[in-house]
Amino acid sequence: MNNDTAPAIDTTRADAFAATYPVRPIPAVGPVDTTPIVTTPAALGELDDLWRTIVPETRARGNDIHLPISLAFAERLCRAYPDADSDLVRVAIVLHDTGWAHVDESRIISEGFTGDWRKADIRFEHEQRGLEVARRVLPGLGYSGDFIERVCAIIDGHDTRPLAYSLEDALMRDADRLWRFDHAGIAVAASWFGLDPARYTDRLASEIVPELITQAAFEMGTADLGRATALLKTPVIR
Ligand SMILES: [Fe+2]
Ligand SMILES: [Fe+2]
Repeated sequence: MNNDTAPAIDTTRADAFAATYPVRPIPAVGPVDTTPIVTTPAALGELDDLWRTIVPETRARGNDIHLPISLAFAERLCRAYPDADSDLVRVAIVLHDTGWAHVDESRIISEGFTGDWRKADIRFEHEQRGLEVARRVLPGLGYSGDFIERVCAIIDGHDTRPLAYSLEDALMRDADRLWRFDHAGIAVAASWFGLDPARYTDRLASEIVPELITQAAFEMGTADLGRATALLKTPVIR
């Protein structure tokens, strides 16, 4: 089932962000690290209390693989874009998919990865449940109300809203996509879409690479894709 009443896009915010960063993909101003993500795991232990709080939410839909790898990519992206509020990007990426733990699990694959999956009702639901997780867990960890609402503004619509509203929003979106290019992400996510590794990596190249907002993410994603397709021998095994 698809949602035909998608929330209206705040064109003022989207246009302001587009005007601030007119060159796409957005050029990096800091170092761009394209080595395998396993070489730079997420380093900031200050988020460990947050991780411990959301362990139950990590057990849904591969989040215990997806979220830590995406955080590592987010930290790498923040080094390439030092103007971004890295605390905001990091907390948002950790929490963005926790709502999957609070939706009907049987509908995740049946609705969330088929057809026009970005518009499926289950996608909106996981975003809204994620906002509830953020507002439940973050106050007790010392985050301010203003910061929590900025996190929520990024989580809200992260899959279903077509445009980013800020640099932090853009970096979270790119980190959310980049994990799929690592061979661990391919192993987990290809089956969600019912695709073999060759077809899945074809789709990464044709559909996901063009969606990347930042130049750093483009370079990281294409480097990973080249390594992963060679490793998995997708030119041959298809
Ligand atoms: Fe999501
Ligand atoms: Fe995600």
